[in-house]
Amino acid sequence: MKISLLGGTGSFAEGLVIRWAKVGHEVLIGSRTQEKADVAAAEINEKAKEQGVDGSIIGMENGEAAKASEVVVVCLPPEYTNATLEGISSSFTNQIVISPVVPMKFGKVVSYDPPESGSSAIDIQNVLPDSVNVVSAYHNIPAKGLANFEKPLDYDVVICGDDDEAKAVVSKLTEEMPSLKTIDAGPLEISSMIEAITPLIINMNKKHKHEFSIKFI
Ligand SMILES: NC(=O)c1ccc[n+]([C@@H]2O[C@H](COP(=O)([O-])OP(=O)(O)OC[C@H]3O[C@@H](n4cnc5c(N)ncnc54)[C@H](OP(=O)(O)O)[C@@H]3O)[C@@H](O)[C@H]2O)c1
Repeated sequence: MKISLLGGTGSFAEGLVIRWAKVGHEVLIGSRTQEKADVAAAEINEKAKEQGVDGSIIGMENGEAAKASEVVVVCLPPEYTNATLEGISSSFTNQIVISPVVPMKFGKVVSYDPPESGSSAIDIQNVLPDSVNVVSAYHNIPAKGLANFEKPLDYDVVICGDDDEAKAVVSKLTEEMPSLKTIDAGPLEISSMIEAITPLIINMNKKHKHEFSIKFI
């Protein structure tokens, strides 16, 4: 599949980019500028070589990357996500859009800070055309874990969304990454509950100097 990662120059995208390129997907790194996208693509292609990927990762401006792909992952900071997507909304037709976006407030503890709509995923669905299907996923997976190819990703990925076919595609893409298991939690309305687990994990990580994720048994 053609998969783009908007804000794909950031830390969260790296592991997903390499893992999907490794299993043969055409992966596009999106950025606000073509120059930064090109630099990031060159760097990530270099790292991906160690995983047997042959330089196929391409950098593009966010709008061009979204337009060219079937699946779009929103790897943007929560506070800039709506404005960025509004600015490139004409690039969207019927893509599946994956939201790992977690709106948080940083104080003595890290807390969930949802927008008025209830969650970042619902905000994203609201700013994009109705023909786009948003699926929430990957909020609880640490960027460092995704980019570490030495240690298995022995985690559960809770997903939610309103379209079963879109969720089936995201489940398949997820389970192509060794050891990850997908659990469908229901409609997009559930996303606030999934997003809210991430600040809990971050507080636990700080306290225990560990990198937690989640697994349901
Ligand atoms: N990091 C994690 O472990 C983790 C885990 C789970 C979920 N997430 C979620 O994944 C998303 C990405 O996280 P991240 O840590 O990769 O974020 P990040 O590194 O802070 O930012 C990602 C990219 O967003 C773009 N960006 C920065 N400021 C922007 C602005 N004002 N307007 C538009 N684009 C801007 C930048 O790309 P360009 O400069 O190239 O445009 C940047 O490389 C977030 O929503 C986060 O909640 C992260």
